[in-house]
Amino acid sequence: MPRTLLISGASRGIGRAIATRLLADGHRLSLGVRSPQQLEGTPLAASPQLLLHPYEASAPASAEAWVAASVERFGAIDGLIHCAGVFSRTGLLFGAEEAEEPERLWAVNLMGPWWLTRAAWPWLARSGDGRILTLVSMSGKRVKGGLAAYATSKFALMALCDCMRQEGWDAGIRVTAICPSWVNTEMAAAVKAIPRQEMTQPEDLAAQVSLLLALPASAVPFELAISCQLER
Ligand SMILES: NC(=O)c1ccc[n+]([C@@H]2O[C@H](COP(=O)([O-])OP(=O)(O)OC[C@H]3O[C@@H](n4cnc5c(N)ncnc54)[C@H](OP(=O)(O)O)[C@@H]3O)[C@@H](O)[C@H]2O)c1
Repeated sequence: MPRTLLISGASRGIGRAIATRLLADGHRLSLGVRSPQQLEGTPLAASPQLLLHPYEASAPASAEAWVAASVERFGAIDGLIHCAGVFSRTGLLFGAEEAEEPERLWAVNLMGPWWLTRAAWPWLARSGDGRILTLVSMSGKRVKGGLAAYATSKFALMALCDCMRQEGWDAGIRVTAICPSWVNTEMAAAVKAIPRQEMTQPEDLAAQVSLLLALPASAVPFELAISCQLER
């Protein structure tokens, strides 16, 4: 059944692949993007099923405005797909020049989904079958060296998913934390240890999301862990 879904980070990468797939599946989509011109020439540039709206994840008022515009256009919100996120190699003993980096990551990766979920919550509850899919990461489940700012943002995001599931369950809201390792997008462009074609492909994640949205509330997994490499 088609749903009305908000997707953040749809301008490129995983979010764009998910939006492209879900548009083809027949869902109504509201895409939160910083630069709508990035979608020119793609299937996501314009469609009667589609709203493009400005969205800056670190600005709470932006979440409120996007939710309001989505409700005005579609009259409902059945789901959120949190894809906007930033990566950084800022580590535990960050240099003075990196001092603001952890909080920048927490603002986008944690508080972005938190503010957006908070703004959309009454509509998700009203849906009776609301869904929240969040691009967390394997870095939200285990820590490898050198990524303290990113890992702490994603562990906290994982906790946020648990909070949303606990508080939304009785209203029919189901929450899935999607936890990939490296995915072949710009975010992983600097990774040399794994050839890009051996990374998880964004279109394959999009196919998983398509399936998740087709499942009944009684069969929604809490977590989807996907790694292109053996996790030791
Ligand atoms: N790629 C991986 O290996 C990987 C693995 C595990 C988890 N993830 C997670 O998956 C999600 C998507 O990653 P990706 O690989 O698609 O990354 P990406 O290709 O770098 O795309 C990031 C997306 O987030 C948006 N974004 C970044 N900062 C934003 C902000 N302040 N406000 C609004 N939008 C913002 C970007 O918009 P602009 O185009 O405007 O910059 C872009 O659409 C992220 O949460 C990431 O942490 C990625």
